[in-house]
Amino acid sequence: MTLPVITHTTDPFPGSSAAAAVLVIPDPDGAAEALSDYEGLVETLTAIGYKGSASAFSRVHLPSVTALPLAVVSAGAAPTAQTVRDAVATAVRTLTGFDTVAIGFAAGLDEFADAAAEGALLGGYRFDDYRSEKKPAKAETLVLHAAQVGDGALDEARIIAEAVALVKDLVSVPAEWQSPAQLAQSAVDAVDALPIEVEVLDETALEEQGFGGIIGVGRGSDRPPRLVRLSYSPAESTRHIALVGKGITFDTGGLSLKPAAGMVGMKFDMAGAATVLAAIRAIAALGLPVRVTAWMCIADNMPSGRATRPGDVLRMLDGQTVEVLNTDAEGRLVMADGLVAASRENPDVIFDVATLTGAIIVALGMRHTGVMGEDAAVAEYLAAADRVGEQAWALPLPEYMEDLLDSQIADMINSNMSDRSGGSMFAGLFLQRFIGRTSDADDAPRIPWVHLDIAGSSEHKGSPYGFTEKGPTGVAVRSLVAFARASVKEA
Ligand code: BES
Ligand code: ZN
Ligand code: ZN
Repeated sequence: MTLPVITHTTDPFPGSSAAAAVLVIPDPDGAAEALSDYEGLVETLTAIGYKGSASAFSRVHLPSVTALPLAVVSAGAAPTAQTVRDAVATAVRTLTGFDTVAIGFAAGLDEFADAAAEGALLGGYRFDDYRSEKKPAKAETLVLHAAQVGDGALDEARIIAEAVALVKDLVSVPAEWQSPAQLAQSAVDAVDALPIEVEVLDETALEEQGFGGIIGVGRGSDRPPRLVRLSYSPAESTRHIALVGKGITFDTGGLSLKPAAGMVGMKFDMAGAATVLAAIRAIAALGLPVRVTAWMCIADNMPSGRATRPGDVLRMLDGQTVEVLNTDAEGRLVMADGLVAASRENPDVIFDVATLTGAIIVALGMRHTGVMGEDAAVAEYLAAADRVGEQAWALPLPEYMEDLLDSQIADMINSNMSDRSGGSMFAGLFLQRFIGRTSDADDAPRIPWVHLDIAGSSEHKGSPYGFTEKGPTGVAVRSLVAFARASVKEA
């Protein structure tokens, strides 16, 4: 992981210690006053036809203000913490070739300095471990010129940016070098210095304890599956949040083999597991008084002479049986076991995070996370996502679709081969059956649960914007941390 270092100063901007400077401005159209400290700036921007919409970035020549190379970036006509965060991220991402960059604010905008710090670090992430020729370098040091930053704000920004970076790093590793055992080891290493307990179940333990879904998916591979349980349990905790992540180290589809083009990029199918790991790490590093248990359901979905066949029946951890009609609908099989295991601890709310269905991309496109589950918990999550600027959208779990899960020989099928309609909801309904109840009574309500389908939102394929570049996005880490933070405030 490579992130820049950020420091804060109240010295006048930009000073002379940096190699280049970025000034965050509002849309200059109608905001000339906020820019009056910078002699000639409005005229220069007008002269070059600068359009000051949110995140508009431009290098400018302004010797009356500074001898340093200077760029401006806009927080738009009505600046908010989010537009400032994205503007700064755009600037740090774009302004390459300078080792130290000073970041300053037009009058009034430094009230958003905390958000700027987060944007600067998120935008400063780089990954070129496997490149022999490095891309033009982003800044290694960022200096925030602001009257003040919040207490501990820079540390918090770093914790969040490191968590997002952890997901991106893990998702970027080629599957050849990231077996289930290796991913489990990375999880152990990632929480090394934190008050997080880790337990790794290997294939023998999984078999003995009845994790039929994880074993059934993993058996086609020479690299056996793992289940990682991470527990952060501070003494004064207010709420117990369980996080379950899909950790398919590579999804070939299994015997229901994916076509060649559909298999490209399927190393990313462990993004959900990486996300829950990063979220618990950030929550523990922030020291939030919330109990969190994270479950990484890790398996390699490969075809072989030992692989699960279409028509095979798996007995899941809670005893329910599943007729596997499509071995490419493997995520729901490993997640079912994880959800049962999580439920047994009776948490207050369960999240699951999974690159679960191609159908969510058809429904919501590439940027929105699909959200399903219990209405109140879903609403609480959507509010948290909104606060951190992550796009998420709720889908229903319609009762009438339950019949589609019927199997001729087992309790349910994992995939409806003759009807692909509502594929993401079908998957959501499948998962729901493995959410435990709040008491022993059969008709007790299920534990509040939120399912996040990140198959589209966890990887960005278009041109870069804000802190989002081509590649893994680390989506859901920041919203899950925001959800945990809100759980503290409520209590
Ligand atoms: N990992 C995939 C989901 C996926 C597909 C993510 C395409 C990103 C792009 C998942 O395991 C899968 O293959 N799902 C199937 C389910 C189907 C067989 C019911 C799918 O979406 O095609
Ligand atoms: Zn699949
Ligand atoms: Zn998959």
